Amino acid sequence: MAVALNINGREVALDVPDDTPLLWAVRDELDLKGTKFGCGIGMCGACTVHINGVAQRSCITPVGSVAGAAITTIEGLNADGEHPLQQAWVAAQTPQCGYCQSGQIMQAASLLAQNSNPSDADIVDAMSGNLCRCMAYTRIKKAIKMAASADSLAVNVGPEAAHV
Ligand code: FES
Ligand code: FES
Repeated sequence: MAVALNINGREVALDVPDDTPLLWAVRDELDLKGTKFGCGIGMCGACTVHINGVAQRSCITPVGSVAGAAITTIEGLNADGEHPLQQAWVAAQTPQCGYCQSGQIMQAASLLAQNSNPSDADIVDAMSGNLCRCMAYTRIKKAIKMAASADSLAVNVGPEAAHV
């Protein structure tokens, strides 16, 4: 039986088993390749997406458990790729290899949607589960602080904010 999902504002019906990890539904069924596979056990954050506005690990989320929820991937964070975090990421030249970065941005977007002015400790706490093998942590934190201080943040947080 098809699983009905709402991904980036689009209703889709996927002919996959209920226990299929959302990560593979997103990547293989919908061809949204921005969400990455890292560990597959919820320990690295590379696969982070938003479910009803909250960062979740898609590698350990069965599609059957999120039917009817609003799911946002990095491709849906902002229609123009101009979320304040995406702009700050570019300005701070945050990525090195880039592999972890969509997960980092999705985790950070969830943080800023709930706390628009996070302290250093808030950032460390929220981001500690997102690993970066290139050790870009200093630039990630810098970019989050840049985005948090951007004037555009309040009006440009993406469609998933309505679900927070
Ligand atoms: S791939 Fe999902 S947390 Fe690592
Ligand atoms: S930028 Fe390479 S793993 Fe984070």
